[in-house]
Amino acid sequence: MKKLVVLTGAGISAESGFATFRDSGGLWETHPVERVATPEGWYQDPDFVNEFYNGLREQLVDAKPNRAHEILAELEKDYDVTVITQNVDDLHERAGSSKVIYLHGELMKACSSRDPQNPFHIVTLDREHLTIEPGTKAGDGSLLRPYIVWFGESVPNIEPAAEEVMQADVFVIVGTSLAVYPAAGLIHYCRRDIPIYLIDPKEVATPSGFNVTVIQDVATKGMARLVEMLKAEG
Ligand code: OAD
Repeated sequence: MKKLVVLTGAGISAESGFATFRDSGGLWETHPVERVATPEGWYQDPDFVNEFYNGLREQLVDAKPNRAHEILAELEKDYDVTVITQNVDDLHERAGSSKVIYLHGELMKACSSRDPQNPFHIVTLDREHLTIEPGTKAGDGSLLRPYIVWFGESVPNIEPAAEEVMQADVFVIVGTSLAVYPAAGLIHYCRRDIPIYLIDPKEVATPSGFNVTVIQDVATKGMARLVEMLKAEG
């Protein structure tokens, strides 16, 4: 089976009702990134930060995967698929994708603010326990925080992600502005001879020297077009 590796961003969840970050009306326009997505913002006002992610979590439990997530999961019938996502929602998994690498954390998890990557203090939230209330503590006594990789923090999953990209026979990029590193640099790990497909309604810049086919469309339609193109290629 050919190995198909997909890098997804906020755009793939847009048709499930989630605002992207950098489009007009995006999350960073309404919520200053330095307040809700940096360690400094957290130290300044942890309750404000928790409230922001509590809101996103409430939205997430009522949201559904869209056709783009579903098509990606269905591709597992014909390909060995790895999804590398910058998204913190769980829509890929809920659509049925079995191998998902989260680069920027997971909205449905919470962790220690002293030692965010310590697996002993990572807890999973659910529909009945959706919000992190002010003052809630993690197992090590520090404040419980969202399990999200903020700006300025390391991205522990970038290495396993890069390993996957190195082995890819097909690489697909969906719904990301490729503005945030190290995720945006993953394309450099592709073998130069493999086909790369980029699905986005807007123009997204990619480095030269790669075999990139642009499918300029929204994720649901773009993914359907991708399946046709993959079939034609055989
Ligand atoms: P951006 O908001 O930067 O980019 C979203 C991309 O999705 C843009 O290129 C849009 O054109 C595209 N888009 C919009 N609607 C779409 C649709 N219906 N179908 C397909 N594409 C569509 O979001 P990301 O690139 O994901 O990190 O942002 C990367 C990271 O920056 C995020 O993971 C987040 C943010 O700061 C953290 O929160 C740590």
